[in-house]
Amino acid sequence: MSQPASDIANHRLAEYGEQRIDWAAREMPVTAQISDRFAAERPFAGLRIAGCLHITSETANLALALQAGGAELTLCASNPLSTQDDVAAALVERAGIKVFAIKGESNETYYEHIHHAIDTRPQITIDDGADLVSTLHSDRRDALDAVRGGCEETTTGVIRLRAMAADGALAYPIMAVNDAATKHFFDNRYGTGQSALDGIIRATNVLLAGKTVVVAGYGWCGRGVASRADGLGAHVIVTEVDPLRALEAVMDGFRVMPMADAASEGDIFITTTGDIHVVDEPHFAQMKSGAMMANAGHFNHEINLNALAQITEHQRELKPYVTAHVTTDGRELLVLADGRLVNLSAAEGHPASVMDMSFANQALAVEHLLRADPPLEPGVHEIPAEIDQSVARLKLSSMGVKLDTLSEEQQRYLNSWDEGT
Ligand code: ADE
Repeated sequence: MSQPASDIANHRLAEYGEQRIDWAAREMPVTAQISDRFAAERPFAGLRIAGCLHITSETANLALALQAGGAELTLCASNPLSTQDDVAAALVERAGIKVFAIKGESNETYYEHIHHAIDTRPQITIDDGADLVSTLHSDRRDALDAVRGGCEETTTGVIRLRAMAADGALAYPIMAVNDAATKHFFDNRYGTGQSALDGIIRATNVLLAGKTVVVAGYGWCGRGVASRADGLGAHVIVTEVDPLRALEAVMDGFRVMPMADAASEGDIFITTTGDIHVVDEPHFAQMKSGAMMANAGHFNHEINLNALAQITEHQRELKPYVTAHVTTDGRELLVLADGRLVNLSAAEGHPASVMDMSFANQALAVEHLLRADPPLEPGVHEIPAEIDQSVARLKLSSMGVKLDTLSEEQQRYLNSWDEGT
């Protein structure tokens, strides 16, 4: 069968998609600078890159930067609900990039699209959640030979890849972009913190002031969500399994308790753990009628929707992205965006300014992979400190923020061990 050119919702949306891409570009000066350099140096001339990413206006700017460097790009979605159809249309119509992604696609189409991306025989993979890598290593081993390396965007993906590497199953080197400081300190914390609440607010227009918000998980995403909910006047409860994170949450001023205790108190539950069934049947049984549940973790496994279905007498759509599950005991439990990433389903994902740093890391990580001499071994690799430092410096300079520099005396002092009290 011949390879389809693209599969998107509607080619006629391209004009608005282009406007959105340009709008995001205004807040992505670091990616723009890298793109200009790539256009001059063409480090990816003729290189086939497949990206399994959220197809947003920010991702479009990354794609255009890689294309400016000479790459032949194919994109597919990394979540069935996160595609911005107008952006997908603009990438196909205005940039000639192959895109296989439709907002609201079924799981079956989602994987068909990943297969179409793999059919292009990518030499570099860029993943957000590792579905492309895992498909390549399971159903599509035929295409593994061509792959020289990859990059991974998110915590969940890096965890999956480390598990693959530990099993000796990972066939090529992958850069853990998520683990760069200029990625997770900012994207996971300020990005998720703002965009998860943005998704909940756009879907419901709920007033957070005075509400009890239960945040499951106090990693970088949970810290961000808790701090932003607190800033809007919510009473925040944190649930954790890790004692250090729990202690940090306590000292940041939040109540910490098991989900079993928080369940009856919460008005809004937000999951950020990356694990499964964090909100489960015993918790549903305790929840108040009208309680809302939203997920900000990568996969839609955090809220146990199968268990919820068992106690649901019927369900109805109250408005887009808000489903009421009417329980057999007559309560209404509300699930936002089918338990999928609420920020990308019901809103536009993280703001461009923060994706600027994440995607600058992606672009530089691809370049690093190709330039590495000797080539990187199969496995998960850290982003070199120089890349992190350069992204931070470029971002600061784009914001007009200047730094001090160490004097020679200060440098000498920091390198000495003999000067005490
Ligand atoms: N992940 C979170 N927000 C995103 C965005 N705006 N674009 C791409 N990936 C994202």
